[in-house]
Amino acid sequence: MAGGGCTGAIETAAEILIDVHLRDGALATIADDVREGLGGTPKELPPKYFYDERGSQLFEQITRLPEYYPTRAEQQILDRVAAEIVSAAGPSELVELGPGSARKTHALLDPILQLSQGATYVPVDVSESAIRELADRLSDHYEGIRIHGVVGDFERDLERLRANGDRRLVAFLGGTLGNFDQRQRLAFLRRTRRMLGPDDRLLIGTDLVKDRKRLEAAYNDSDGVTAEFNRNVLRVVNANLDGDLDPARFDHVAFYDERRRRIEMRLRAHEAHSARIEGLGMDVVFEHGEEIRTEISCKFTRPALEREYAAASLDLIGWYSDDENLFALSLTRPT
Ligand code: SAH
Ligand code: TRP
Repeated sequence: MAGGGCTGAIETAAEILIDVHLRDGALATIADDVREGLGGTPKELPPKYFYDERGSQLFEQITRLPEYYPTRAEQQILDRVAAEIVSAAGPSELVELGPGSARKTHALLDPILQLSQGATYVPVDVSESAIRELADRLSDHYEGIRIHGVVGDFERDLERLRANGDRRLVAFLGGTLGNFDQRQRLAFLRRTRRMLGPDDRLLIGTDLVKDRKRLEAAYNDSDGVTAEFNRNVLRVVNANLDGDLDPARFDHVAFYDERRRRIEMRLRAHEAHSARIEGLGMDVVFEHGEEIRTEISCKFTRPALEREYAAASLDLIGWYSDDENLFALSLTRPT
């Protein structure tokens, strides 16, 4: 990281530029978020803090779990329709919000680079390790690709991505939209909408409403990878705020709330104890069975999404699903 985490631009190779906006971006709010989240009731922690280097690796393992169907379902859809979407949209720039390892992104980049040599890929992710690794891999794989990586927070840093006249496809895959609640989703969609010119397109992957068993299995894998991923947020808080939260004292809890159509992810203290967060001068007391809310993962239907897109001045112009109707891609354009 440049200058110990300050904003900086590092030229790592001719065709790769990586902008790091962490201290004034993703990590800027960790002190306030943790003070507020662990100081209130119920306790909660924002999900973007799952993703340090270890968290990104654990998520990558999640995507390969037999129970975690969303990645395979979304890959199947992309393999079928990405070329068609790209040829209709004709982008010379792909902006991807929260790409993680960007494995699925090949389905979009292959046709984009065929169409437009020298096209630009702009991955925006809080995980610096994820951005560096995908930039290395993609620059090896594609000749003529230009990569402008942005290490930052897609809830705060989108204004930095000023339009440069290139026709854009903005992708937001993996069901990450469902990790926002309804109010956050609307705000996010409106802000993202503002990045779009009339010919730009926004492609969003969302998990769909389905039976409880299938949903709960995807967030309670038998190898305990999801549990370790969930506990990782405690390690990130410890590392950044000099805390001693003890992951071993928390159980992973994930269940489907049918009424709200969402998976709730929590960490439950299995014994009463307290923790010290030195960086905040704060002691946190946990009662036996007390929970920290760490993540939600909302599940959607087409009509529900169409309403939300409309409220953000986005028109649904394409809807694509997999064989089992597990997951969907929405192609939208500004109205
Ligand atoms: N798109 C990938 C990864 C999904 S996991 C896939 O479909 O498999 C969510 C990704 O979003 C992670 O890479 C995480 O680091 C990133 N992320 C989460 N919150 C973020 C935020 N507020 N700003 C930027 N990136 C974020
Ligand atoms: N976007 C992913 C999802 O909602 C994130 C995710 C998958 C996740 N598994 C998780 C988040 C476990 C927290 C814990 O499916």
